[in-house]
Amino acid sequence: MSKQVASRRMTVPDIRALKGREKIVCLTAYTAPMAALLDPHVDLLLVGDSLGMVVHGLPTPTAVTLDMMILHGQAVVRASSHALVVVDLPFGSFEASPEQAYLASVRVLKETGCQAVKIEAGEALAPTIAFLVERGVPVMGHVGLRPQAVHVDGGFRAKGRSDEERARVIAEARAADEAGCFSIVLEGVAETLAREITAGVRAPTVGIGASAACDGQVLVTDDMLGLFEWTPKFVRRYADIRTTINDAVARYAADVRAAAFPGEAEVYRFKPKGS
Ligand code: KIV
Repeated sequence: MSKQVASRRMTVPDIRALKGREKIVCLTAYTAPMAALLDPHVDLLLVGDSLGMVVHGLPTPTAVTLDMMILHGQAVVRASSHALVVVDLPFGSFEASPEQAYLASVRVLKETGCQAVKIEAGEALAPTIAFLVERGVPVMGHVGLRPQAVHVDGGFRAKGRSDEERARVIAEARAADEAGCFSIVLEGVAETLAREITAGVRAPTVGIGASAACDGQVLVTDDMLGLFEWTPKFVRRYADIRTTINDAVARYAADVRAAAFPGEAEVYRFKPKGS
C-alpha cells in the first residue's frame, strides 16, 4: 500500500528528519515511465550510475559519463513530483578536485532540476563533500562497497570481513557525516557494522545489502522487479517481470506470425467522404 503522498516534493531536511522516526524508502529510477510509477511510493528516487550496467549493458559503472547521468536525471525529474531526486556523480567527474566536483554538481542540479547529488567517497573525499555542501549542493554519501572502486577492489565485494576493513568503513561513514552529507548509502556491509555506523552518524543511512539495521533501504528497481536472471543475495524479488515480458512477447510473436494481430479492434477504417 502506498503511503499518503504530500502535495509537495520531499526536501533534504525532510529526509534528515526521518532518522529515528520512519524508515526511508528509496529505489533507483532511470526513465520517465518508471519514475512516474515509483514516485508516489518512495521518499527518494536515485538516478544511480548503476544505469550503465542496467540500461546500457556496460560491465562496470566506470564508463558512465556525466552527460548520461544528466539525460536520465532529466527524465526522472520530469516524471516525478513527490520524491527527492538524487543523481549520482559518475566515476571521473568529481575526484580530481573540489572545484571539479562543484562544476559537475552544478551542471547536474541546473540541467536536471534534481535536488541532490550522490558521491561514492572514501575519507579522502571528505573535503570535497564539505566544499560542495558549503556552496549549496546537498550531498548523499556512499560508503562500504563502492561500485566505482571495482577495479581497485578486484570485483564487487562486500566490506567488513577484517577489523581493518571494518575500521575503514566506519571512518568513511564518519568522514562523510562530518563533511555534511544529508544521508549516506551503506552498501554491502555486515549487519553489525551497519548497526554501529547507523547509531554513530547524524545522517540517516540508506542500506543496500546492509541489513535492516539502517535508517532506510534502496534497491535497484530492475533487480527487485525480477528483470534479470541473476540478482545479488540481498535482493528480494517482488515481481517476475522477466517472465511476464517473455510470455507477452511470445504471444505477440505468435499472433503476428499467425496474422492474428492486428485484428478488427486495432485497425483504422475511415468512412469515405460524403457517405
Ligand atoms: O548506482 C546505484 O544505483 C547505487 C545504488 C544501488 C545505491 O549507487
